[in-house]
Amino acid sequence: MIHLNGRFMPLEEATIPVLDRGFIFGDGVYEVIPVYSRRPFRLAEHLRRLQNSLDAISLKNPHTDAEWGALIEELIACNEGADQYLYLHITRGVAKRDHAFPKVVTPTVFMMSSPLLPPAAELKSSGVAAITTIDNRWLRCDIKSISLLPNVLLRQSAVEAGTMEAVLLREGFMTEGAASNIFVVQNGVVLAPPKNHLMLPGITYDLVLELAQAEGIPTQVGPVPEAALRSANELWLTSSTREVLPITVLDGQPVGKGQPGPLFKRMDALYQNYKATVMRQAD
Ligand code: PDD
Repeated sequence: MIHLNGRFMPLEEATIPVLDRGFIFGDGVYEVIPVYSRRPFRLAEHLRRLQNSLDAISLKNPHTDAEWGALIEELIACNEGADQYLYLHITRGVAKRDHAFPKVVTPTVFMMSSPLLPPAAELKSSGVAAITTIDNRWLRCDIKSISLLPNVLLRQSAVEAGTMEAVLLREGFMTEGAASNIFVVQNGVVLAPPKNHLMLPGITYDLVLELAQAEGIPTQVGPVPEAALRSANELWLTSSTREVLPITVLDGQPVGKGQPGPLFKRMDALYQNYKATVMRQAD
């Protein structure tokens, strides 16, 4: 079951007009929210980022947080599976094709749920491979925009190279992955690029930094030069659907010892423990 503009219906019944500005211009924003044990994870943070994305494209939020909360609850209830991931998509709506904003228009709101499978144990025990590519996206990567063509092409280049992710480099610095944030571990310090217009402020990124800081694991948020990436002891990728994964091969070369490192194992344990605690508290 999906939600479209105020109604719940089977996916097969959902249609949108071809003049929707999401279809014509990619004029919209989205969110991806994990659900564990039928409860949304870090919902307030996701709704805050959604608001920031909407503000950045001057689109009025069609719902209050309380309304989003109720819609999300209903979406979870009418889909199977304890763990789901929710996709929320808001476009500027249907209007005659003209680049400038229409004067009067109703946003299109679409929500769907998909099964959320935890990353395979194999990915955590062996790690994943990635390539580096030039970050050729625009300068508002902080907006969770549905215009994802550059990310699609970058991710496809990673897949065609037989790897899981493309780690992006802009002017000698690492920004993020094509669909994830990236952390570099060097000499026991977790390095993270700063949240600015060059990367998406990941909800998992924030959580990983929070967990590291609470555990006394040294962190350093600041520009991450390509050289730090190339000489990393460990590399991690994070996203709401993939949690924290170790990158053990970069551009065909082993990262550190070519195995998931000790800090990854600690972080993964902290992350799993945090998830379990949050879920218990909600009971
Ligand atoms: N993508 N950076 C980019 C470009 C992303 O697309 C994502 C996530 C992230 C990680 O953000 P978070 O931790 O909040 O999931 C960073 C989602 C999962 C997607 O597009 O499916």
